[in-house]
Amino acid sequence: MNRTEPSTADALRRRASARLAAAGVESAAVDAAELVAFVLGTDPGRLILIDEVSSADREQVETMVGRRADRIPLQHLTGRAHFAGLDLAVGPGVFVPRPETELLAQWAVDRLGATGNDADPVRVTDLCSGSGALAIAIATRVSRATVTAVEKSAAARGYLLDNVATTGVDNRVEVVDADVTDVDAVLPHLRGRSVVVCNPPYVPTASHISPEVAHDPAEAVFSGSDGMTLIAALVPTLAAALDDGALVAIEHDDTTGPAVREAFAATGAFSDVTGHEDLAGRPRYVTATRRGRMEP
Ligand SMILES: C[S@@+](CC[C@H](N)C(=O)[O-])C[C@H]1O[C@@H](n2cnc3c(N)ncnc32)[C@H](O)[C@@H]1O
Repeated sequence: MNRTEPSTADALRRRASARLAAAGVESAAVDAAELVAFVLGTDPGRLILIDEVSSADREQVETMVGRRADRIPLQHLTGRAHFAGLDLAVGPGVFVPRPETELLAQWAVDRLGATGNDADPVRVTDLCSGSGALAIAIATRVSRATVTAVEKSAAARGYLLDNVATTGVDNRVEVVDADVTDVDAVLPHLRGRSVVVCNPPYVPTASHISPEVAHDPAEAVFSGSDGMTLIAALVPTLAAALDDGALVAIEHDDTTGPAVREAFAATGAFSDVTGHEDLAGRPRYVTATRRGRMEP
């Protein structure tokens, strides 16, 4: 073996981290550990215990780190994304779920858990479901919930169906092929729901995006010049379809909090319209109650 080549897993990890940092990868240290652990079939925390890595594995690490240095998302290289304690299949053709969306999932779980009897069934809809991150997080944590996951992209629905099956919630998550801006198509999937969550495309088209985000499908990311096209079309449908007391949460761009709150207010059909920030203090999602109160 070449004396200068690292052969312990930890040395490989450190070299990978330096290479990724030099390529401008923000999460270089974490990604390096994840990639080395992925190739070696172990957890990042156990790398320190591996004294000798085979030359075949070292070559594979080298290849994967090179692809990550080319700014291919980590999750596309491993085929997996972690979200709210779930391990989901992702890849080209589906949006990689983001940690900030876990806050919206938690909001829904808290609302559903805070009220109602465990034996009382409750119906939830996840609009723009992508990989199913929100739908599955809610279904796995709220056993009385049945969830409708609406997604118009066939490629995304492939991952969604796979994730629903592998997480064991296929008896309580129904996957629906519909465009959420098509009122007639989406209305049946909103009627009678107690909670509706939605992480739609919301980035203004002229926004600068990172090389990693460019690997997400454009239809999952962008929504008109102000980022509001889908949300503006959807909110009146929610007002028309939902029963009094139903709760809604919509994630949005950090520039559009006021516009989203205004979209709810303009319908005259919602109360408690509230903006929420993410952990970095940026406006991230808006919640509202269809007028009147009904416990979910
Ligand atoms: C930002 S991604 C969110 C995916 C997932 N909810 C999550 O949080 O990871 C938005 C998703 O909306 C889907 N989408 C975009 N426009 C849609 C529409 N008009 N009707 C239904 N789904 C749509 C995209 O295909 C994409 O999967």
